[in-house]
Amino acid sequence: MCHDTSVYTRENRTARDYESLRAEVDRWQSNVSLNWSEDEINAVSTWLAKRYYGFSCPSDC
Ligand code: HEM
Repeated sequence: MCHDTSVYTRENRTARDYESLRAEVDRWQSNVSLNWSEDEINAVSTWLAKRYYGFSCPSDC
């Protein structure tokens, strides 16, 4: 778990679309030295996009 869900549901969220959400996921996994693969970053980004943001994402997600 990265943190609680409040950052995904607050007003004025940083992420505006799938690409900016993925950039945040990549930034945070890097900050905490998880060394996630592209597939892992995509998987978490897709899950957050569907579960919290309601973003559409690329056709491969
Ligand atoms: C792999 C682990 C993590 C993931 C995937 C992740 C993901 C995210 C995402 C997607 C946002 C943007 C929310 C928005 O739309 O506004 C965010 C924001 C934030 N995260 Fe994380 N996070 C991780 C780890 C962490 C850790 C370890 C910390 C603290 C030590 C942290 C602290 C914050 C804070 C303070 C924000 C709000 C400020 C900002 O928008 O930059 N996160 N995180």
